[in-house]
Amino acid sequence: MILSRLQILSLSILCCGLIVAAVPQWQNSTDGRQYLIEGDQNYNWFKAFHECARRKLQLVEIDSKEKNQALIEVLKPLFGDSHNLWIGANDEYNRDKDFKRPFYWSSSGQPMTFSHWSSNNPGNDQQDEHCVHMWKSKPDYQWNDHHCDTPRFGFVCEEHHLKADLTKMMADKRKTATETSIKLYEEYHRQQKLMMEKLENSLKEIQNIETELKEQLHNIHTKLEFDINHALAQHQREANSVVDDRTKAIRNVFADLTGATTEISMSVSKEMERVKTVYDDIFSI
Ligand SMILES: *[C@@H]1O[C@H](CO)[C@@H](O)[C@H](O)[C@H]1NC(C)=O
Repeated sequence: MILSRLQILSLSILCCGLIVAAVPQWQNSTDGRQYLIEGDQNYNWFKAFHECARRKLQLVEIDSKEKNQALIEVLKPLFGDSHNLWIGANDEYNRDKDFKRPFYWSSSGQPMTFSHWSSNNPGNDQQDEHCVHMWKSKPDYQWNDHHCDTPRFGFVCEEHHLKADLTKMMADKRKTATETSIKLYEEYHRQQKLMMEKLENSLKEIQNIETELKEQLHNIHTKLEFDINHALAQHQREANSVVDDRTKAIRNVFADLTGATTEISMSVSKEMERVKTVYDDIFSI
């Protein structure tokens, strides 16, 4: 059996592919994006699409000059000036030969607005070039439309746009949540400060009332004390004068009594003298 040159080439590719199991590599782009890049020239467009999808990724969608330029900067150190790599665009099997027939990004379904076509492309050769790839034969990774079932290119995957949307949505929600909690926190603090001020004012008011009450009580106390002392003194004076009066009266009675007693004793002794004289007369006989 004689093998053609092409068959020998295919076999050698098959052999080496088996021995050195090629693994697509992640690469970082200067614009913050990350790409999973398969340089091996073994894939038709559908297989490339599925290789991305199985990893929850999508065949790359290049929708701006900036993204295209940053991706080229990633590819140049890996493959040099250009390489055959499938990207995620097709023309929905349009048979128009029209250079300007519309193309679409297959994962998002969005019409292609930015493009990086090589000269005279997309040509739709044999009306059967419906898938888009970066073309090794043109510098700077310019694009070409080609038969989708050509199994001879590598591919570039990127984060699935739904995941990117979800990540952005989550980031927005997180931002909103953070802002809301900051606002709530500030409002809580404001309210707390107000409450503290109110509480402090109330406490001050209570202290004022207490001080006032103390003063009033003190005044009442002082007045009561004064009144009681005054009344006591008055009573004392009254009592004293009553006692004085009684003492005087008793003293008078006593003096009268003393006078009377003296008089009586004097008259008794006078009488005794007289009786003695009488007795002396009688017993001197
Ligand atoms: C890409 O960047 C990430 C950090 O964002 C880092 O962990 C990773 O090693 C980088 N990969 C390459 C190939 O430089």
